[in-house]
Amino acid sequence: MTASAADIPAKLLDWYDRHARDLPWRARPGKPAPDPYHVWLSEVMLQQTTVAAVKPYFAKFLAIWPTVESLAAAPEEEVMAAWAGLGYYSRARNLVKAARAVAALGAFPAAEDELRKLPGLGAYTAAAVAAIAFGQRAVVVDANVERVVARLFTIDEPLPGARKAIRHHVETITPEDRAGDFAQAMMDLGSAICTTRAPKCLLCPLAADCGARLAGYPERYPVKPPKQAKPERVGHAWWIADGDRVLLVRRAGTGMLGGMRALPDDGWTARANGSGQPPVGGEWRECGTVRHGFTHANLTLHVRALEHVRVSAVPDGEWWPLADLDNAGLPTLFAKAARLALAEV
Ligand code: ADE
Ligand code: SF4
Repeated sequence: MTASAADIPAKLLDWYDRHARDLPWRARPGKPAPDPYHVWLSEVMLQQTTVAAVKPYFAKFLAIWPTVESLAAAPEEEVMAAWAGLGYYSRARNLVKAARAVAALGAFPAAEDELRKLPGLGAYTAAAVAAIAFGQRAVVVDANVERVVARLFTIDEPLPGARKAIRHHVETITPEDRAGDFAQAMMDLGSAICTTRAPKCLLCPLAADCGARLAGYPERYPVKPPKQAKPERVGHAWWIADGDRVLLVRRAGTGMLGGMRALPDDGWTARANGSGQPPVGGEWRECGTVRHGFTHANLTLHVRALEHVRVSAVPDGEWWPLADLDNAGLPTLFAKAARLALAEV
């Protein structure tokens, strides 16, 4: 460790003691660790999702499933429906699988390598739960930590290649004690002070140790790889109504939106446009389009509606009461499509 890197944990923890965010899944700085179930649930929800968006879902999940055993006993479809709107639905499927694995074990394991074996627990989540819930010294690296460390140590290699060097530096500054507070302090620093744009270096407890600030251009770090254009895809969603009911299907598979309730569609994927072929003939009405960014493609989804359909002619599915559509657990993409159709018909 360099002379200045040696001061980083103490300065950061001292800052955290005064400025830690109060979050529902957290213990106050220096206090006994929170319930591992709360830590795990929040960390899975926080992957790819903001703290503000997670809070109501976290509260809802704990109200319905107050323990990991109760979540383990829940039908997968109910958990998927409760997750609707949070996105990245494979997280919800893995959530149920992991809850069942933990229930079978009798409790959450405390060791990082045991946590890593649970479904959906990648390197980040396993390290975060080990550190935050069990006080283990684990190297926790999320996007906030990457940004702070790339700046502190002026890592000139672009992401994703820089990850190895970033990990190494996080390893050198992670303390033996209070590893969970340290990880969360890095995250809070990244989200409040060392922000992507216009970092507030004047308020930063690590300013004296920071290479990027000394170099005068912190926003250069982490260095980004050249941008790849995302492919554009086109698909159709079919609103098939019969009186006060609409036809919903459950999407197959474990891929994009797999396992979620949805409107029938024309088979679009991240790799290919849909066929554009409606499932039944008739006078389809154009209701507008929804734009949605997936990880590997942008989608323009055309919404078309057909009313007064011959029920025998349509694909298999559930006839869902329009008045209860809010409770169908539609992911955001299809909830928006439904709103367009409802405004049109
Ligand atoms: N983002 C992901 N996990 C977090 C945590 N425990 N605290 C703050 N931000 C987070
Ligand atoms: Fe980030 Fe500025 Fe602090 Fe460096 S001094 S860690 S760039 S906020």
